[in-house]
Amino acid sequence: MRMFVSGRRVKRKQFLQLFATCFILSFMVFWGPIDNSIVSHMKSYSYRYLINSYHFVNDTLSLKYGLEGPRYPYLINHKEKCQAQDVLLLLFIKTAPENYNRRSAIRKTWGNEKYVRSQLNANIKTLFALGTPNPLSGEGLQRQLLWEDQIYNDIIQQDFVDSFYNLTLKLLLQFSWTNTFCPHAKFLMTADDDIFIHMPNLIEYLQNLEEIGVRDFWIGRVHRGSPPVRDKSNKYYVSYEMYQWPAYPDYTAGAAYIISSDVAAKVHEASLTLNSTLYIDDVFMGLCANKMGIVPQYHVFFAGEGKAPYHPCIYEKMMTSHGHVQDLQDLWNDATDPKVKSISKGFFGQIYCRFIKIVLLCRFAYKDTYPCRAAFA
Ligand SMILES: *[C@@H]1O[C@H](CO)[C@@H](O)[C@H](O)[C@H]1NC(C)=O
Ligand SMILES: *[C@@H]1O[C@H](CO)[C@@H](O)[C@H](O)[C@H]1NC(C)=O
Ligand SMILES: *[C@@H]1O[C@H](CO)[C@@H](O)[C@H](O)[C@H]1NC(C)=O
Repeated sequence: MRMFVSGRRVKRKQFLQLFATCFILSFMVFWGPIDNSIVSHMKSYSYRYLINSYHFVNDTLSLKYGLEGPRYPYLINHKEKCQAQDVLLLLFIKTAPENYNRRSAIRKTWGNEKYVRSQLNANIKTLFALGTPNPLSGEGLQRQLLWEDQIYNDIIQQDFVDSFYNLTLKLLLQFSWTNTFCPHAKFLMTADDDIFIHMPNLIEYLQNLEEIGVRDFWIGRVHRGSPPVRDKSNKYYVSYEMYQWPAYPDYTAGAAYIISSDVAAKVHEASLTLNSTLYIDDVFMGLCANKMGIVPQYHVFFAGEGKAPYHPCIYEKMMTSHGHVQDLQDLWNDATDPKVKSISKGFFGQIYCRFIKIVLLCRFAYKDTYPCRAAFA
């Protein structure tokens, strides 16, 4: 390209770049004290795309005196879960004590180890991570959990109160459990309990990655240059005391992401050295990964906040979709039906599905599911 661009054009381009940089920097300096969503996004994106260095995080959030303090003892555990076997995927689902129905639906669908073994020929381990019921709710719920675990043997519980503001504790639970009891699992996935995972597609994808011996692997829906929310009424509010800078390092949405075992070990190591008061668990995971120099990759078929459109042409490639509770079983039946793959077969099948995907995904302001470019992937 360069060859065809005259010297003058190059200069003008450089000048424009410089000008844009100054313009954006002026935002950061002069509008610094103003807290509004547009300004904070301008600040965070400019930080992300111009500077993109987070050394200060290590310096500031590193614990001064040795490793992070209190760890919570396990109330329910299954140390033997992974022992003496090859595990392709360790699947941790973040759930809450009262969400019995969600766990139940997951056990029958995408979390079902037996299905994956018999139909997909892979070994996965499914575990539910949770804390303790709110003390005000009495002891009944904890008794039910113990009973539930007697039947299914798939709950890992630590002795901290299960609440939104303790999500980072739940993250630490998953990483420390993995590191202690299942470090040999090839991949670790963490997912919400209102998510749908297309296991046949995912397992095929992971088996291919395993074959090439992938390392430093971290994939999901990537948030780039997100600013901390400074509005106190927002659920995700983060004080300057907790995080002083205009942008978070890149991270994957906590709804569902996957890492390879080497990354799990590194993130666990970093998590022991950083102050974990920041309660937004996926951001905290991003800080740990950033400290270890690990960068996330964006997968277009990992959903954001919204549900993926219901259509066989979408199911063909889907990995995850968000916000499924009532419709989980139906979606599972439809999306994993082997007939799905035949729709896009052949020349006309491909054209048909390309067209459908463009219509479904590229419509302006469609709910936050897969990006338009997923239609061309
Ligand atoms: C992070 O900070 C600690 C102490 O503040 C320092 O010992 C360590 O070398 C730093 N690591 C990186 C990757 O900068
Ligand atoms: C988090 O868990 C700890 C330990 O159980 C508890 O003391 C604390 O109140 C919990 N925090 C929230 C916000 O629920
Ligand atoms: C962690 O950071 C918080 C501020 O967000 C601070 O109050 C607390 O003392 C820090 N903890 C440690 C162990 O440094």
